[in-house]
Amino acid sequence: MSIEKEEQIKTGKGKVFQSFLGFYTVIFLLVFIGLIGFAAKIYLGDNKTPAIEGTEIAENSPSIAPVDQSQIFEREAVTTIVEATESSPVSSAIENPVARIARGESLFNANCAACHQLGAEGKVGFAPSIRNRDFLALASDDFIKKTIKGGRPGTAMPPRPDLSDYQIDGIVAYLRSLPVSNPVVIEVDPHKSYIGNAEAGEASFNIYCASCHGEEGRGYSDGGSGPGIGLPGFLGVASDDFIFQTLKHGRMGTPMKSFLGARGVANLSVEDASDIITYLRSLQTVEKGAVATFRGAGDPIKGEEHFNINCAACHQIGGVGKVGFAPSIRNRDFLAIASDDFIKQTVSSGRPGTAMVGRPDLSEKVLADIIAYLRALPVENEVHISVDAYTVFNGDKEAGKGKFEVFCVACHGPEGQGYATGGSGPGIGLPGFLKAASDDYIYQTLKQGRVGTPMKPFIGPEGIANLSDEDVYDITTYLRSLPN
Ligand code: HEC
Ligand code: HEC
Ligand code: HEC
Ligand code: HEC
Repeated sequence: MSIEKEEQIKTGKGKVFQSFLGFYTVIFLLVFIGLIGFAAKIYLGDNKTPAIEGTEIAENSPSIAPVDQSQIFEREAVTTIVEATESSPVSSAIENPVARIARGESLFNANCAACHQLGAEGKVGFAPSIRNRDFLALASDDFIKKTIKGGRPGTAMPPRPDLSDYQIDGIVAYLRSLPVSNPVVIEVDPHKSYIGNAEAGEASFNIYCASCHGEEGRGYSDGGSGPGIGLPGFLGVASDDFIFQTLKHGRMGTPMKSFLGARGVANLSVEDASDIITYLRSLQTVEKGAVATFRGAGDPIKGEEHFNINCAACHQIGGVGKVGFAPSIRNRDFLAIASDDFIKQTVSSGRPGTAMVGRPDLSEKVLADIIAYLRALPVENEVHISVDAYTVFNGDKEAGKGKFEVFCVACHGPEGQGYATGGSGPGIGLPGFLKAASDDYIYQTLKQGRVGTPMKPFIGPEGIANLSDEDVYDITTYLRSLPN
């Protein structure tokens, strides 16, 4: 990954801190206003229901309920990176717009910037600009929300049903707050249909669009420089008029120019546009490949393509990973310890609270291809390790906590939250990891280390810490005891 991106990630953390301050200010103001209101009511002698006044405040405004500051701090610190299942700590109706934007910005930086780039500028051939003047004029809040929740199957755009409306509301507020030059207003009529001739549309599409949007509009996955406008994820949320208006206006500052009329690059007529739209709609109804269950070996060559589209933004080309951001998954020791099931479960369910987003939309076939690709990568001095998935260690949790603090916190963060707390290693105290990994997986990792990464072997005289088996039982028991 480029230095530019590394900076983005650092800035991201600064923003997390800013939004954190914002969060406090809001809570403080709300408590303050609440108290004044409460005092005023008592002072003004509104004594109809004095006994339940206090409870009423707590019930009506969830924002005032969690006054336990230590709890707020804890939840905020762990969850700002992805803030997955968090519901609204402050109802957005009364939230100050500046706080909402700051909250949205930090969510954006943590969850979206790896692909859409800092400031949502996009990257040609990889992910579209979503701070684009014309895109923002065309796309309703609902369009953006549906795109985030449902993703774009068959592209790198992951579905995020885990993000709450409150969180998405923040992200949208942030996108809409970005400065644009010469703002335009475009009316999109979601009910209007453009009915033309699909065959003529296919011919025009192949002449004017396929060079950027790929064959049948498959987009980036077909090596295109533009998104997959023939794929169901896009067609499912975009109305005919959304497509028409895009053709009419283009997307300023991107390779997507206006194609319609005398000023368009292709002087297309409304009829041509209707034909193209009708052709695109005909693609939507064709059942596309993905088979629900797949048994058998994957195809490493297809797997590499899938990997580059879906995973390389974070795990880097070749899966080499990046310290402090995403682990190496082409690592000799990781691949020896992780079973295919471990990898499948990690990809399907993700690791909540980290940038590793679950991809339940990827078919078994695609997963098998990716695994085949990872396993086909050349490794030096191959090792074979067998992991016993059933043994449970029964150590001393308190002793484990002490040892964890001495030996592991420096890289994995207090309570093992990993990257979210600025650690250089992954979140081994978070439920996503703990659910996928057996006790022996942890033991074998500590014994073996991960060659070529900061994760060294820790056990025995050859380990950097000469830990005993007992020490590892204690640490594992401690990790399993963490609240999740
Ligand atoms: C020179 C390359 C190029 C050509 C030719 C081109 N496009 Fe695009 N198109 C793009 C890019 C790049 C984007 C994404 C712009 C962005 O970053 O926001 C895009 C975006 C779009 C979108 C919006 C997709 C979305 O996800 O919101 C539609 C619809 C679209 N193009 C339709 C067409 C059609 C139909 C044609 C043929 C008439 C066409 N484009 C020709 C490059 C191109
Ligand atoms: C792993 C990469 C990746 C991540 C992470 C990601 N996106 Fe996307 N996103 C994409 C790609 C690729 C597309 C275009 C898909 C296509 O071909 O239609 C896209 C499309 C979109 C679109 C539609 C744009 C258009 O022109 O119609 C929106 C809106 C969007 N993403 C928002 C988000 C938000 C908000 C987040 C964070 C919650 C996010 N994305 C995270 C890769 C990503
Ligand atoms: C010098 C920094 C450092 C220290 C100290 C450290 N680790 Fe790690 N650890 C890492 C890194 C970096 C990785 C990811 C390696 C990779 O890219 O594959 C990792 C990976 C792991 C993994 C595998 C996680 C996964 O997602 O599969 C486990 C388990 C683990 N460490 C446990 C521990 C424990 C327990 C301790 C304390 C005894 C410890 N580590 C100390 C840096 C460290
Ligand atoms: C937006 C960034 C991002 C994308 C895209 C992404 N990952 Fe991850 N992945 C991560 C992070 C961060 C972690 C470590 C999470 C943690 O702290 O436990 C991770 C962890 C993993 C692990 C566990 C590694 C270990 O050491 O235990 C596997 C396996 C994995 N990812 C596979 C994939 C595959 C396959 C894809 C593509 C389908 C993918 N990831 C896409 C960020 C990403």
